[in-house]
Amino acid sequence: MPTPIQRLLRTSPQQLRAFEATARLMSVTQAARELHVSQPTVSVQLRELAALVGEPLLEPLGRGIRLTPAGEALQATVADIAGCWQRFEDRLGDLSGLLRGRLRIAAVTTAEYFVPDLLGPFAALHPGVEIDLAVENRDRVIARLRNQADDLAVMMLPPQALPLHSQPFLDNPLVVIAPRGHPRAASAQPVPLAELAGERWLMREAGSGTRLVAEKHFADHGFSPRIAMSLGSNEALKHAVGAGLGLAVISALTVQSSALSTTPGDTGAPWVQLAVEDFPIQRQWSIVWRSDAPLAAPAQRFVTYLRGAQAS
Ligand code: PGA
Repeated sequence: MPTPIQRLLRTSPQQLRAFEATARLMSVTQAARELHVSQPTVSVQLRELAALVGEPLLEPLGRGIRLTPAGEALQATVADIAGCWQRFEDRLGDLSGLLRGRLRIAAVTTAEYFVPDLLGPFAALHPGVEIDLAVENRDRVIARLRNQADDLAVMMLPPQALPLHSQPFLDNPLVVIAPRGHPRAASAQPVPLAELAGERWLMREAGSGTRLVAEKHFADHGFSPRIAMSLGSNEALKHAVGAGLGLAVISALTVQSSALSTTPGDTGAPWVQLAVEDFPIQRQWSIVWRSDAPLAAPAQRFVTYLRGAQAS
C-alpha cells in the first residue's frame, strides 16, 4: 500500500497548479491565461488529476463551472499544503535570522496608487521576501479573501460576511472631479450637491468600492445623479472626466501629484478637484486578513511595518 506521500507524488505540480488556479478563478480559460498555457493543457491536467483522485473535481453550472464536494475538499487540501510549506519557509527564515518567504497582497484598484510606495521600503528591509501584488476591484478582492488566495488585502470597506481582522492605516478622502474648464471649477465656495443635479455623472463599474461609497453618500443626501457612463478603472474615469464627459467621485489619492502626500496640488491634468458641499467623503484604507487562519511571518512583519509607518 503506497504511503500518503507516495500517493501525493503521483500528482504533478502542474496538475495541482492548474487545479488551484481553476478553483480560485472558477474558469479554465482564466486559469490557462494566468498560467501562460493553453486551455486544452489545463483541461488535460484537470482530467488527469480527477482520474488520480478517482472522483470528478468540477461540474458544469449554467455557462460556468463549480467545484464538486471532492473538488472543494481538494481545494482546502491544496491550501493546507501551501500553508504548511509557508510555515516551513518561515522556520527556515527563523533559523537563518533572515525573514524569508512570500508576501501575497491583494489591493483594490484605487490602492495601486500608494501600495507600491509602501512595499518599496519593506522589500529593501527584507530582501528574502518575495512579494506578489494582485490588483483587483473590491468584489474580486473579496473573492480572493474568501478563497484565501492572499495573506493580506488593502481595501476601504472590509466585508462583514468573512472572518477578518482589519486595521485602518491611511485616510482615503473621496472627492468630486470635473473637467478643467467646468464653470464651477474656479469656485472656492463649495457647490451644493443639488446644483449638480443637471450634470452627467461618470461612475466606476459595479463591484467597485468607490462606486458603492459614492452611491451610498448620494442616497444619504437625497441626491439622484444622472449616471451617464460606467468605467472599469480610475484612469479611464479621470480621462473621461478630462475629455469633458461628466463629473465623477474618485479617491483623492488618484488625483494628487504624489500618492502619499496629503495636499491636492495641481497636477496640470485636464481634470480638477471641485469644491462640493458634503465632500470629501471621509473613508480610510485598512489592511485586512483572515482571522481563522495563521498569518505567515512576512505578512505579520508587514502589518507591524504598517503600524510603524503610521506612527512615524
Ligand atoms: P475600488 O476600490 O473602487 O477599486 O473597488 C475601493 C475599495 O473598495 O476600497
